[in-house]
Amino acid sequence: MRAVVLRRFGGPEELRPAELPEPEAGQGESVIDVTLAGLNFADLEIREGVYAPPRLPAVLGADVVGRRRSDGRRVVALLRAGGGYAQVAVARDAYTVEVPAGIDDAQAVGLLEQGCTAYGALVTAGRLRPGDSVAVAAAAGGVGHLAVQLALALGAGPVAAVASTPEKRAFVRSLGAQVAVGRAEELGEALPNGVDLYLDSVGGRELRAGLAAVAPFGRLVSVGARGGLSDTLAMDDLTGRSVGVHGLWMQQVLAAPQVFARASGMLFTLARRGLLTARIDRVVPLSGVGAAHAAMAARETMGKVLVDVRA
Ligand SMILES: NC(=O)c1ccc[n+]([C@@H]2O[C@H](COP(=O)([O-])OP(=O)(O)OC[C@H]3O[C@@H](n4cnc5c(N)ncnc54)[C@H](OP(=O)(O)O)[C@@H]3O)[C@@H](O)[C@H]2O)c1
Repeated sequence: MRAVVLRRFGGPEELRPAELPEPEAGQGESVIDVTLAGLNFADLEIREGVYAPPRLPAVLGADVVGRRRSDGRRVVALLRAGGGYAQVAVARDAYTVEVPAGIDDAQAVGLLEQGCTAYGALVTAGRLRPGDSVAVAAAAGGVGHLAVQLALALGAGPVAAVASTPEKRAFVRSLGAQVAVGRAEELGEALPNGVDLYLDSVGGRELRAGLAAVAPFGRLVSVGARGGLSDTLAMDDLTGRSVGVHGLWMQQVLAAPQVFARASGMLFTLARRGLLTARIDRVVPLSGVGAAHAAMAARETMGKVLVDVRA
């Protein structure tokens, strides 16, 4: 099979197409003939060796869609140990979902990983209620653009989006965000009463500014950090303003089958009703994975980036 292989940690140029033997399924796993694989921000950190470094050589890629070889069913799967940038992948059955009729391959793989993250953060950890005001950091990204739509579909409002460029702010407004600002610190002016729920994925100063935008008794949920300051929060930051801070890691969503089933079921139901759409930024061939990584790192992408492993 053809795949993209990482032989040493480093820049996007380290991602190179190669011919590899097909992986074999173990107990509780299935072989999938992949059509499309997804890119996720964590892939960039894994490639650099700064997050969950795998044993090399490795095939990265955390989400795939295709046909399960054992029964020919169309399935979408989350791969916790990578293996997505390839024509054949092995997935745990527990992390695999049959794609409902009416959802195409691009939507299925565009929704599952980042959508479950958005659902876990907003609903499971964030306890979103209809009528809550919500703000989403990095709102034009893979997780962010689904979080904006999910919050709206679940009755939140107003929903505010933080995105760095005018083009990204136009994009998040096209998704229904009523407020779009360039930085979290601008939220105070736009929503002087604060927000009930803030979804952060940036950390550092942006997390602190996001926390300042949370109304008393509101919550902030963090799904990731790049700024390095997020670990300096003190209890006084919370008690002084009666706010709560939660974390969310996809591994816990997957470890709780009922949460994963609720999240994936909700995503596909909303997608079939036209209330949730994974916006596909670009679809690249296997030879274009390195360039797609570079585009994500340069903050050029909006929505989901896909790899057509047959091309
Ligand atoms: N906890 C979990 O289990 C989990 C699961 C999935 C994803 N995540 C996290 O969620 C975040 C979003 O992931 P994603 O896959 O949606 O990524 P993505 O599509 O690349 O979106 C990331 C967005 O972050 C913003 N950003 C801020 N600082 C950045 C920087 N230094 N470099 C690149 N982008 C930066 C960019 O938006 P602006 O230009 O508008 O700032 C970019 O659009 C990541 O931190 C990821 O690790 C966590």
